[in-house]
Amino acid sequence: MLMEIRGPKAADAKMGLEYINALVDEGAMIGVIDRSTLAQEKKIFRQMAAGNKAGKRIDLFAFENKMIVGSVKLEFLPEQISPHIAYLGISVAKEYRGKGLAKKLYSQAEKKARKSGIERIYVKAYAENKRAISFYKRLGFIEVALLEDEIKIGDWREDALLMGKKIVQ
Ligand SMILES: CC(C)(COP(=O)(O)OP(=O)(O)OC[C@H]1O[C@@H](n2cnc3c(N)ncnc32)[C@H](O)[C@@H]1OP(=O)(O)O)[C@@H](O)C(=O)NCCC(=O)NCCS
Repeated sequence: MLMEIRGPKAADAKMGLEYINALVDEGAMIGVIDRSTLAQEKKIFRQMAAGNKAGKRIDLFAFENKMIVGSVKLEFLPEQISPHIAYLGISVAKEYRGKGLAKKLYSQAEKKARKSGIERIYVKAYAENKRAISFYKRLGFIEVALLEDEIKIGDWREDALLMGKKIVQ
């Protein structure tokens, strides 16, 4: 695989739009249900690039053939009270799953997080997202709490599983 992994640039918005909308169309359990627009993605990528530059978050994208094929984000909690905590979000394009890409993206993000003073990473998964839960367990995350009824989309309700990993000893 000829793949580049790097942080976001404002100019990546169009690729970002195709990537996120493919996940939405697939019904991937990523916490986004509406298709995005180019204007929205431009704003998101501008903010993401600025947030990375300011050391307030970490985002990494995997690119192949001028497409985004995977992404990982670590959003830091407010510096004043929890400068050591980050929340994770991760996804890989359907055709690229099962090849170790998410693991690679995560481990690069975790390494950067450690250098930024992050000590614990949390992630929230839909309780029915067995694939993601197995994936997080493989990375060393443990179950912290079952958040009953956390998701409510129209009439549909679902529990979420909060998982966590201590990344420093
Ligand atoms: C969850 C997801 C990110 C995993 O990405 P991936 O690139 O396929 O994962 P990897 O190939 O890096 O797998 C890493 C490890 O997780 C395990 N894993 C991955 N998918 C799995 C599955 N479907 N069932 C069981 N284990 C799985 C692998 O066995 C592997 O372990 P190993 O290193 O011991 O072999 C991907 O399936 C995805 O994007 N899903 C849709 C979006 C989503 O649900 N994101 C999470 C929201 S909470």
